[in-house]
Amino acid sequence: MRRPFIAGNWKMNMTHLQAANFIQDLGDKYNNKNNCEVAVCPPATALKSVKTIIDSDNLDIKLGAQNMYYETSGAFTGEISPVMLKALGVEYVIIGHSERRQYFGETNSDINKKTKAAFNADLKPIMCVGESLEIRESGKAGQFVLSQIEECLDGIDEESMVDLTVAYEPIWAIGTGKTATSGDANDMCAAIRKKIGELYGKKISETTIIQYGGSVKPSNISELMKMSDIDGALVGGASLEVDDFMDIINYQGSQ
Ligand code: 13P
Repeated sequence: MRRPFIAGNWKMNMTHLQAANFIQDLGDKYNNKNNCEVAVCPPATALKSVKTIIDSDNLDIKLGAQNMYYETSGAFTGEISPVMLKALGVEYVIIGHSERRQYFGETNSDINKKTKAAFNADLKPIMCVGESLEIRESGKAGQFVLSQIEECLDGIDEESMVDLTVAYEPIWAIGTGKTATSGDANDMCAAIRKKIGELYGKKISETTIIQYGGSVKPSNISELMKMSDIDGALVGGASLEVDDFMDIINYQGSQ
């Protein structure tokens, strides 16, 4: 049984004060009838304040970061290391989001290094993959995403895989209001699982959590969560509204 995992990627939104108010509000309204794993990923400047409130209010919400560098320390002005995140009480870290790939030039090789560095620091990576509209329309989305998986996981050992989450986020569905159909999203998540099975064996592939991301809303989450190979969601815009995020966590499941 794979435990559903819903994570909110706040992207570059909210000052630390706004983030503190938001998590307090979320905590006040919090309920989780599907018993999902829930995480929020605030900007780096808000990690500490959000963590303080999670701890003081004893909230069952995990803390994630949106990015990190792969070195532990040194002359890398402006970067944040895995060790620094860990010391703040961060548990998850988003690696290789398409916005990092698109605007900051991150490659599969960078993402591979970051994923390994996250494991070394005892952080759980949420490793993102996904194709552009151009690639989808060329009919090569499957091939493209599976080669992202292969390159990003290169040299990662079996034991680490227990702590890996994959997020399939088709770029054309991010922030556009266009969701992949639940069938298309599921097909890709199933193909990713199959590839992980080829690389690591069936047992690991059947326990790996694979999220879908891209315009997930209260109105489409239940449909997505019914699918066989979608285990959760990486939510952007809708995770910035307390009520919407709560409705997503409490999707119509088997309860
Ligand atoms: P939206 O939910 O705003 O489309 O963003 C998805 C995303 O990029 C989550 O990482």
